Amino acid sequence: MKVLLTGANGQLGHCFKDIFPSDWQLLATDSQQLDITDGLVVDNFVALHRPDAIVNAAAYTAVDKAEDEYELAYKVNAVGPKNLATAAKKYHAKLVHVSTDYVFDGTKRSPYLEDDLTNPVNVYGETKRAGELSVLDNYSSAIVIRTSWVFSEYGNNFVKTMLKLSQTRPELTIIDDQLGCPTYAGDIAKTILEMLMNDIQGGIYHYCGDEYVSWFQFASKIFAAAHELNLMTNSNVMIKPILTSEYQTKAIRPLYSVLNMDKIKQLDIKAPDWEKALIDVIPRIHL
Ligand SMILES: NC(=O)c1ccc[n+]([C@@H]2O[C@H](COP(=O)([O-])OP(=O)(O)OC[C@H]3O[C@@H](n4cnc5c(N)ncnc54)[C@H](OP(=O)(O)O)[C@@H]3O)[C@@H](O)[C@H]2O)c1
Repeated sequence: MKVLLTGANGQLGHCFKDIFPSDWQLLATDSQQLDITDGLVVDNFVALHRPDAIVNAAAYTAVDKAEDEYELAYKVNAVGPKNLATAAKKYHAKLVHVSTDYVFDGTKRSPYLEDDLTNPVNVYGETKRAGELSVLDNYSSAIVIRTSWVFSEYGNNFVKTMLKLSQTRPELTIIDDQLGCPTYAGDIAKTILEMLMNDIQGGIYHYCGDEYVSWFQFASKIFAAAHELNLMTNSNVMIKPILTSEYQTKAIRPLYSVLNMDKIKQLDIKAPDWEKALIDVIPRIHL
């Protein structure tokens, strides 16, 4: 199978390249090689290479910065996916697009279902929701995977930030009233491959780590794992739980964004054990 990967230098892009089957053909592109916001460029690229599938790992993911960069976030998160969906449909390629738990407002108190009402509370979530719609409106056979709290050995993420901050700060205050499911990018990559190998009905699928936690609980697990692996440079770091109201950020975040995975489980895809992934990933993180 010939697969076009966009956003190849991001967390998911890197992990996808790492596990890509050696007997398949991968066209891995970064934003220089294929800017997904340019419809003509996307059409020409897909027409020339005729991939069997397109995996969109490209996105504008800076949640706070997006509040000041609506246009750019919209172009990357909504226009880009529309361009890919249009080309995928035109040239008969499968499309897997990735979205986020931040399409929800977080007022629910039980895991969100795929067809629950979306109501993003920040620009990032709004543009990602626009992307979901632009993909499915233009290509109903496309697969949209909503995931959450992504971490990996690559790029910027909460795990890396915690380990880095612990080196220089005696105390860290971490939000304890936002709940979500950490997800290892490598597990998302594996699931995308599985979905490409099978004939999956188009639509939205939720996929995230198996247990939900608060950011504070996530940080506690990170430091416990690093400690166990003898990789804590400052074992004395204190972590203190705080409320969202005590920590000002540009973008509002949903207080609860746990995703229900019943739909994807029907495809024999299990919720990944993110704590196990964390133990595997921490030694591979370069600070
Ligand atoms: N990170 C999270 O916590 C999280 C949570 C939920 C859902 N998600 C979703 O999961 C997916 C993967 O996220 P990630 O964490 O792997 O993202 P990431 O590490 O931020 O990578 C995104 C990549 O997109 C590329 N990109 C940006 N603009 C582009 C353009 N115009 N054309 C082509 N590529 C472009 C960037 O490449 P350049 O550096 O070359 O610009 C970057 O390498 C995204 O859809 C994201 O919304 C992420």
